[in-house]
Amino acid sequence: MKLLVIGGTGFLGRHLTALALDWGHEVTLFNRGHRQHPDWRELTALRGDRSQDLSALLGKGLHWDLVIDTCCYRPEQAASLSAALLGRCERLIFISTISVYRDFAQPGMDESAPLHRIPAGEMPDDYGPLKVLCEQEYLARWGERLCILRPGVLCGPHDHTGRLAWWVKRVERGGPWLLPGAGQDRLQYLDVRDCAEFVLRAAEQRLGGVFNLLKPGIALGDWVERLAARLAPAVPIQPEWQPWPALLGAGVESWQSYPTLLPSELAEYAGYGRISAEAAIVQGLNFRPLEETVADLAQWLAEGGQGAVTGMTAQQEEALRQRLRVSALP
Ligand SMILES: NC(=O)c1ccc[n+]([C@@H]2O[C@H](COP(=O)([O-])OP(=O)(O)OC[C@H]3O[C@@H](n4cnc5c(N)ncnc54)[C@H](OP(=O)(O)O)[C@@H]3O)[C@@H](O)[C@H]2O)c1
Repeated sequence: MKLLVIGGTGFLGRHLTALALDWGHEVTLFNRGHRQHPDWRELTALRGDRSQDLSALLGKGLHWDLVIDTCCYRPEQAASLSAALLGRCERLIFISTISVYRDFAQPGMDESAPLHRIPAGEMPDDYGPLKVLCEQEYLARWGERLCILRPGVLCGPHDHTGRLAWWVKRVERGGPWLLPGAGQDRLQYLDVRDCAEFVLRAAEQRLGGVFNLLKPGIALGDWVERLAARLAPAVPIQPEWQPWPALLGAGVESWQSYPTLLPSELAEYAGYGRISAEAAIVQGLNFRPLEETVADLAQWLAEGGQGAVTGMTAQQEEALRQRLRVSALP
């Protein structure tokens, strides 16, 4: 197929592009050129800032079977890209996110769960509501020729968010570890390469509609054990489980301090880690083992790979331990 990838040099886009070339597709990238894709097998690179100048896409004779938009964050970007490509491109896959959902209250929620409500005429500032507007804009313009994919948290080599990397480094450090709850809260990471594979499947099968892309969640207690078994920390991990209210009261931030972890005892998060991707699984979404993802990420980090610094530092964890000791004093 002739594929046009909007983006293609970041995280998901980078893996997607490499895989598309492996699978024999003809790939054109459109981005600002801040980074180069390391793989230049027959890759065509078009340059432009999508918010200002799409003229590189308007050249005479340019035509694609499918566009995959990996970096649309505002409805006006969806509108302008559609105006440029309708007539040059048959179908569109939009990479959206599970952040479009209003909350994560219902365990097992699927693609029909309620989205953020945006009052008519208002322009939100937040990522999730803006992605809802992007979805609506694309749907209005592409109709049945549109496929919307909603990944959960992605992870793997070249992840610039540093989220799974935090868990890997913390497990590698080992020793006593303050952890929230009783090990029942769930994490739901998807290997970026499994995500990329599904995007290409959706392309080849000409899928339309909406699909959540997540791996079944795993309870924090099992997660820590499996990471420790794969990463073999020098000093064994000694989990010190603490109730969420005590940790939140001592300054722990849900989602941030332990990256992507939410207290499922709060009603709005009761379904987090239990979001359904059944529809995508039926269409061929596959999952590599957690151990493989973790080992590949650990290797990328060991070779100098870097993402954002995120999560609680060793000093912050020690300060937290002190605060909990003080607050436990009679
Ligand atoms: N990471 C996650 O956990 C996660 C979870 C759910 C959904 N998602 C979704 O997955 C997508 C992320 O894809 P990714 O990982 O490849 O993104 P990324 O790492 O942020 O890369 C963004 C890509 O878009 C290009 N780009 C950015 N701004 C541009 C502009 N104004 N004009 C033209 N090109 C532009 C960048 O190249 P230049 O900088 O050179 O322009 C780059 O190739 C997003 O849509 C996100 O909402 C991610």
